Amino acid sequence: MVIEKTNDDDFLKSDVTEFALGYDMVKNHTWYDNLNYLVKLSNDFFNEDDLIMDYSCGTGIFCERLLKIKIDSPRILMLDSSPKYLKLSYEKFHRNYKFFFRLIKFLKEENRLQTIEECIETKSSELLDGIVCANAIHLYPTINDTIKSWYNILVKGGKLLINSGNILNPLKDSDSTLIDQTINEIAKVSYDIVRNNPKYSKYVDLIGNFDYINKHDNLRDKYFLPIRPIDFYTDELVKNGFKLIEVKCENVDARVDEWFDFLKVYHEGIIGWVGGSKKMTGVEPTEEDIKNRVEIIKEALNIIFQNKNDFKASWNYIICEKI
Ligand SMILES: C[S@@+](CC[C@H](N)C(=O)[O-])C[C@H]1O[C@@H](n2cnc3c(N)ncnc32)[C@H](O)[C@@H]1O
Repeated sequence: MVIEKTNDDDFLKSDVTEFALGYDMVKNHTWYDNLNYLVKLSNDFFNEDDLIMDYSCGTGIFCERLLKIKIDSPRILMLDSSPKYLKLSYEKFHRNYKFFFRLIKFLKEENRLQTIEECIETKSSELLDGIVCANAIHLYPTINDTIKSWYNILVKGGKLLINSGNILNPLKDSDSTLIDQTINEIAKVSYDIVRNNPKYSKYVDLIGNFDYINKHDNLRDKYFLPIRPIDFYTDELVKNGFKLIEVKCENVDARVDEWFDFLKVYHEGIIGWVGGSKKMTGVEPTEEDIKNRVEIIKEALNIIFQNKNDFKASWNYIICEKI
């Protein structure tokens, strides 16, 4: 199949943003070694004639790691719903003739994202030898549709490699943590931090306002979707024609300070109740409120991890094949 490098110039027009560069920093974090197993498997499974898709490619960290170990890389179609992330991926790889880019557009009138077939403008099926979906499956609202379109676009025997740090697996070590679990824990601890420090006295009365706190809890659930059990994903995959080759849960070392660096950007979603989210109150929080939120998140992480520098993060891998 002949593929155009990209079919949309719009996402290319803007400059690379601080937002995307900010996310890209996680590639230096120890917890991003969660990608290594997918990189190893991609090296084993795919050859230079293959065409694979990095679905929800983000800023392209998986591809960077793959290219580091594989000179004869497969051709790679990078798809993401964020124009900002895709633009940074494009900047990194567009000079490489093996890379192709498609934005998954949000269709406002239909209130949905484009399907893969719409993105790559084809009605054909069985085009891809493999799909990698790293750190994103827990974000999809309509997982059934996504899995169906993965199935449709893969050749028979094509591999689907998935990982996520936000899937609950009964095999998880009792002392390891799901990264999104820390979000709810920070929120819980934040109330005591506010109560116990006179510096935050202006927020104390808000804690008793059930409606206000409840609204901000709901906002948190929008930023960080509920964690689902592994069976939810494996059942959907099997139901839709995939054979499970391997399902495993591993620990990934994470540093608390790096996790804080990542989380602080999402202060509104985590403890927006401190100062109030504009989405709920109609008023922007002050700079001081934002500074306080970030400080409270830092203190909460120290409490949760008992001032330790590291924690074990639990990561799940689902490796399957189209039957
Ligand atoms: C945590 S990032 C992971 C990016 C990359 N795979 C990595 O491991 O660095 C999640 C990615 O999923 C994308 N995403 C979020 N919701 C999505 C959806 N409904 N469909 C497809 N991609 C989505 C985001 O734009 C983002 O790039």
